[in-house]
Amino acid sequence: MIKVRDVQKRYANPDGGEITALSLDKLDIEAGEEVGVAGASGMGKTTLLNILCGISLPTEGSVEINDIEITKLPEAKRDLFRAQTIGYVFQMFNLIPSLTAKENVMAAVVFGKKIPKQEREKRCLELLERVGLSHRVNYFPGQLSGGEQQRVSIARAMGNRPAILIVDEPTANLDYKNRGIILDLLREIRRENNSTLIIATHDQDILKSMSRVIELGQSEESEASIVTENSAA
Ligand SMILES: Nc1ncnc2c1ncn2[C@@H]1O[C@H](COP(=O)(O)OP(=O)(O)OP(=O)(O)O)[C@@H](O)[C@H]1O
Ligand SMILES: [Mg+2]
Repeated sequence: MIKVRDVQKRYANPDGGEITALSLDKLDIEAGEEVGVAGASGMGKTTLLNILCGISLPTEGSVEINDIEITKLPEAKRDLFRAQTIGYVFQMFNLIPSLTAKENVMAAVVFGKKIPKQEREKRCLELLERVGLSHRVNYFPGQLSGGEQQRVSIARAMGNRPAILIVDEPTANLDYKNRGIILDLLREIRRENNSTLIIATHDQDILKSMSRVIELGQSEESEASIVTENSAA
């Protein structure tokens, strides 16, 4: 269970003063839920995901995951918690350019857990096979297409069988076919592990298919906050 309370994220505005990138009074996400995060560009979707997984801290407020207040943990403990609990597929993939597909996945499986190298390697190869990339194991990110990099990024996020899978714009740069492949894959992973799936996206088809959608938008008191929340699908 994820509990967000009274979260504000403010940044220094390069033109002076401050901007409020996110303002969220309350958000609860149950284990196993499927949640879409919608809202126009700049409304705080990535900001919210970064705060949920502890990559960045809110200026105010708290985030609790499975009874642990991650916003109170020191950075090293937050990193460890994330590695063990959360798989994050970044908006820009964030693969390490000097590592091959396999090494990128390996790097995530290593972190926070002592697993013998052979076993890690086996798991990485299984994950890459899972995302249809057995033939690209030794390729570097620069040698992979956008859709392939996205799939490496998903394999990496699955490395530690996370309870929570957070995905930022999974289909932004993909063609229709790859978009379908990625979505099916994410759903399949969610079902298998009964993990919580949180997807930020502009893609209306994805949002329609999610059991719950949170829309971030402008409101009177702040620049970005939840304006609607529906359980359509
Ligand atoms: N480091 C920063 N310093 C100042 N402002 C920032 C910083 N990071 C983000 N912002 C601002 O916070 C707001 C929210 O950004 P965010 O990346 O969360 O939007 P988003 O909803 O994910 O947009 P997109 O759909 O384009 O990905 C934006 O207006 C952005 O300019
Ligand atoms: Mg974003």
